[in-house]
Amino acid sequence: MYTAPRGTADILPPDQPYWRFVEQKIARITQLYGYERIDPPMFEDTRIFIKGTGETTDIVQKEMYTFEDRSKNSLTLRPEGTPSVCRAYLEHGMTNLPQPVKLFYVTPIFRYERPQAGRYRQHYQFGVEAIGEADASLDAEVIDLGWQFLSSLGLRDTLLFINSIGCPQCRPAYLQILREYFGGRIAGMCADCKTRLERNVLRLLDCKEAACQKVATEAPRSIDHLCADCADHFGKLKGYLDLLGLPFEVNPNLVRGLDYYTRTVFEFQPQDQRGQSTIGGGGRYDGLMETLGGRPTPGIGFGIGVERIILNLKKQATEAPPLPAPGVYIAHIGDAAREEAILLAAQLRRGGIGVIAATSARSLKAQLRQANNLKIPRAVILGDDEVRTATAILRDMGTSQQKSVSLKELASLLR
Ligand code: HAM
Repeated sequence: MYTAPRGTADILPPDQPYWRFVEQKIARITQLYGYERIDPPMFEDTRIFIKGTGETTDIVQKEMYTFEDRSKNSLTLRPEGTPSVCRAYLEHGMTNLPQPVKLFYVTPIFRYERPQAGRYRQHYQFGVEAIGEADASLDAEVIDLGWQFLSSLGLRDTLLFINSIGCPQCRPAYLQILREYFGGRIAGMCADCKTRLERNVLRLLDCKEAACQKVATEAPRSIDHLCADCADHFGKLKGYLDLLGLPFEVNPNLVRGLDYYTRTVFEFQPQDQRGQSTIGGGGRYDGLMETLGGRPTPGIGFGIGVERIILNLKKQATEAPPLPAPGVYIAHIGDAAREEAILLAAQLRRGGIGVIAATSARSLKAQLRQANNLKIPRAVILGDDEVRTATAILRDMGTSQQKSVSLKELASLLR
């Protein structure tokens, strides 16, 4: 027996109502905030992620699905959406459009991670990117979009954490302070933190190991070492979030796992924060376009994991609205009725009425049992008598009541 690759899942019909529900809410919220959809290819030149996502990130170090095609090009299945969207922005001259350019995507993302609840090797992300504007009001608007999206799904008790991790002007000095702080305490920290001390000291702030967390909570905070511009930007952001009534909390240990962030970073977390729980996160990436060869162009966005949304909806027992399904079952007895049933099913469907037609010549009882099992509310029964008189028996599957109706009026009755 073959099985789906480790860390991947089939989205089976019983789960589809959740997915369609989430998609509908994405379509609605992006329309409300003026975002247009972009669908970049599923794989890209590997260098886009090495440069864009960043060489020191876990994603680039150990999680990418990279392969060589037959022309010896190194390609990588998308491990996140932001570099692809920025590449497309540059490639298609979107600098010439009115700024900021507001784009969204819903797409599979591939990361070779250790699978567990809420963490997969293929997951879907709803992401937005607003490119070409540095003002803090845009940061607030993007965070508000994410917040309103989660509320529109009926997700309760979401927490919003924000932080500012500075810019190329103020960050190097802060990183040096951090290195000194952690350098003196590294002996008791985990192996990952030890290797990250030189390579990516910021990540020591959000290590999940208990021993490391203890050290990290007392570490110097980036918000105390911002340059005047970054401090002003962060102050404005907090003001706008207050204005919008979003209940945020500043978390000085929030740094996020991607190299391109500057200034604002944020995350949406469920109240129950065990395991892989972050619902979504994002931030500003004012240097990313230059890294990818473009002119300096600020940007901000987020990614929200669809599986994690659904996991949380289920955890809080929120059901998705059922998907529309055929409301009519056509049963038949005898060869003449069989042809009549095939024709009737086709006519009803062409008239916009969903139909499940019995396909094999089973007994009437078996056919009606199938209608019941499929939870179809109405059955139309055709036999020799009905064919001769151009009628059908219409049965209410709930009450088992039946009546004879003419074929002519059947469609309008069913409608
Ligand atoms: P990220 O934090 O790596 O950010 O991913 C965003 C969200 O995707 C996570 O919060 C989580 O819900 C979901 N996610 C990530 N990895 C997995 C996984 N292995 N299994 C299931 N869900 C997962 C980014 O990817 C950035 N590109 C977000 C962004 C956009 N920043 C600026 N613009």
